[in-house]
Amino acid sequence: MLDRLRHEIDKCDAILIETLARRLEIASCVATYKQGNGLAIYQPEREADVLSKVIGSLEDKTYYLDIQELYSRIIQLSRRIQLSKLFPYNIVLIGFMGSGKSTVGPHIARISGRSFYDVDICIEEKAGQTIETIFRTKGEAYFRTLERQVIESLKDVCNSVIACGGGAVLDKQNVAFLKEKGKLIWLDVTPETVYTRLGRINNRPLLKDKRIDDIKILIDERNAGYSAIADYKIVTDDKPIAVVTADTLSLITR
Ligand code: S3P
Repeated sequence: MLDRLRHEIDKCDAILIETLARRLEIASCVATYKQGNGLAIYQPEREADVLSKVIGSLEDKTYYLDIQELYSRIIQLSRRIQLSKLFPYNIVLIGFMGSGKSTVGPHIARISGRSFYDVDICIEEKAGQTIETIFRTKGEAYFRTLERQVIESLKDVCNSVIACGGGAVLDKQNVAFLKEKGKLIWLDVTPETVYTRLGRINNRPLLKDKRIDDIKILIDERNAGYSAIADYKIVTDDKPIAVVTADTLSLITR
């Protein structure tokens, strides 16, 4: 009995594997078509449509939640394949504090099926201290050394999303390294937005007790640098995470 059932499973697998490989190959061809015709690689409406067709076509709903989960994953893998084909680089997010790098980064990673690395979090893990404490007890120069070490430790990371702290790219060595490892996407932001997003959080040592005018001076100083090294720029003010994500994916696969 068990042997017979297992034999049936093997037969299902043979069909699934062949169909799945064919489906992913077609997804890859779709990527080329979309790029050639200026269409967005990430089309949430089309994906919702695919998912609802799949669920709608199920006569027996016993496993519908499981099939829905599996399909969501297949769709994510298709996206990953499409993106890797059109953009086989790391997505490196740069920009001022509060521009959304650490918020949007995980979302871009999830949507594109990529891994996410947050340089600030890696620094805190390496030091066993928060960034605030590192700045307060050991100073900024020490923090920058850790930052450079963490960035260098990402040397084997590929096809991933990396969020850098706002000051990481003030260092020429970091810039050279990151440019070799990926494309730099500058999340641009106004002082007003930074103030609204971070004004009360107060956990950025360089922004402690700063007013909008101070933030403006700092942003103006930094923006020339961001602009000079960025491969792409996305304005993030007033944009929900999903929109920044969609804008980013469409910009880099155009
Ligand atoms: C810094 C930005 C911070 C953090 C540190 C210094 C900077 O990261 O690395 O407080 O110099 O701009 P976020 O840009 O993620 O806030």
